[in-house]
Amino acid sequence: MTNQISRRGNLAPTPLIPGLFAPAEAPAMAAPWTPSPRAFRAAQRASRDGSYNGDAPTTLEEIKAGVQMCRRCHLYRDATQGVAGEGPARARLMFVGEQPGDQEDLAGRPFVGPAGQMFDRALAQAGAPRDQTYVTNAVKHFKYELRGKKRIHQSPNAGEVAACRWWLEAERRIVRPRVIVALGATAALALFGKPLAIGKMRQQALQLSDQAQGVVTYHPSYLLRLPDADAKAEAFAMFVEDLKFAWKLAA
Ligand code: URA
Repeated sequence: MTNQISRRGNLAPTPLIPGLFAPAEAPAMAAPWTPSPRAFRAAQRASRDGSYNGDAPTTLEEIKAGVQMCRRCHLYRDATQGVAGEGPARARLMFVGEQPGDQEDLAGRPFVGPAGQMFDRALAQAGAPRDQTYVTNAVKHFKYELRGKKRIHQSPNAGEVAACRWWLEAERRIVRPRVIVALGATAALALFGKPLAIGKMRQQALQLSDQAQGVVTYHPSYLLRLPDADAKAEAFAMFVEDLKFAWKLAA
């Protein structure tokens, strides 16, 4: 398997977004991970172009290996690696973000950068232990634009979200959470198949096709970007309320 990590590991991280909370240091580059031969074969089958109705991954390991070799859209070309979700295979609560950011792309783990720290802090206040939840993204590769040496986040388009839904659906089938929380508009699009107004739809249990309940809330990066301290504190409090709501719903 080609290891793309070393080719891009020396890229400068994007500037940290000024916000309420001090960002942690950039995570160290993850050590190369080798899937079992079985997971490797399953990943190869699942990651080719086109639809594979009979060969969907059946374990989280197969998904983790599969996103590394995914060619379902073009985003793999510029990313360091694919970032699959992480958490217990039987988590009752699943969170879906947008896509890995700069630090997640280097670390190979979801929500470990500034947005992840905001998310961790809100989870702690909501009384929802992150290690009892499954955390993933709608799109598994980092989409960015190079400005000089900086990698500037770009939102995935509807086609990229649709192409990556294969992996999200496989994660949903394996984990079978009771509740799935869409963090922001891209995740809501991936889960519900249409744009939703987050401000209007939050704090509601919405039915999803696989019997899970869906909940929508803000993306932690949105909170980080709010320029006004009062607005930021208010949005953070609402975010915590939404996480509490989802955690109780999943109980
Ligand atoms: N933003 C996301 O949507 N997901 C991550 O993993 C990190 C930042």
